[in-house]
Amino acid sequence: MHSSKKDLFVDRYVIFNWKMNPTTLADADDIFDALKKSSARLRKTLAVVCPPALFIDHLAWDYKGKRIAFGIQDASIKQSGSWTGEISYSQARNIHVSFALINHSDRRKVGESIEDSKTKMKIALSEGMSVVLCIGEEKRDYQGTFLKSLQEELAFFLKGVSEEYFSRIIIAYEPLWAIGQSKSASSHDIHEMVLYMRKILPDIIGKNNASLLKIIYGGSVDDSNVADLLSIEQLSGFLVGRASLDPTQFDALLMSVEKATVPEKV
Ligand code: PGA
Repeated sequence: MHSSKKDLFVDRYVIFNWKMNPTTLADADDIFDALKKSSARLRKTLAVVCPPALFIDHLAWDYKGKRIAFGIQDASIKQSGSWTGEISYSQARNIHVSFALINHSDRRKVGESIEDSKTKMKIALSEGMSVVLCIGEEKRDYQGTFLKSLQEELAFFLKGVSEEYFSRIIIAYEPLWAIGQSKSASSHDIHEMVLYMRKILPDIIGKNNASLLKIIYGGSVDDSNVADLLSIEQLSGFLVGRASLDPTQFDALLMSVEKATVPEKV
């Protein structure tokens, strides 16, 4: 998996999405300082922090460690030029951002189409970034329609992607009904979905490409449920929202992920 930290061996990821928090730079500094302390003990885990874009340069400029990488929550489908208020992926790349969140449900809520999300994914990949591609059903139904829609979503985003990019794509399975709630999907449900994705991905992009993709889970992950979720085979980490702002929670979460046995290889 691509990382800007060249000499790093990473086999698990915790992606921290701060969303539109916190309000002040001073608070951002405090959270990031705590993250630096927690991450100093990581050996196999990469913490990817996605702060609001206007805080990133400040937080990153004197960070010399290897266990934290920076991600951008969103950037423009325009690559450069006169687009008032927009930020480009290449600008993000130039301030050492190496990950991009793509197709997060919060973006969909403000009207971003999946076509735009796909364009953004392509731009981020061509800029050399790793992408965290969020996919997941809105709700579950007994007929299993959600399985079909997940398959279509994966096919929509992954078909036609150039082979060289697959090692830089992390699929974040985020069932929309589990995001921002007090309850994550159960480890049983997540396991089933990971197995399902592992089964259908080779048909969509070929066996070799499929084996390069990592799968993580997002949706109400915190220090209270991480131990249970770590029992899921073939899961390479988590995408975390609310708990990424709480040092006690993210410290416990990172240590649990770091200490867990390596997820089974596919
Ligand atoms: P949550 O957010 O951890 O607060 O549920 C996850 C996400 O929005 O990706």
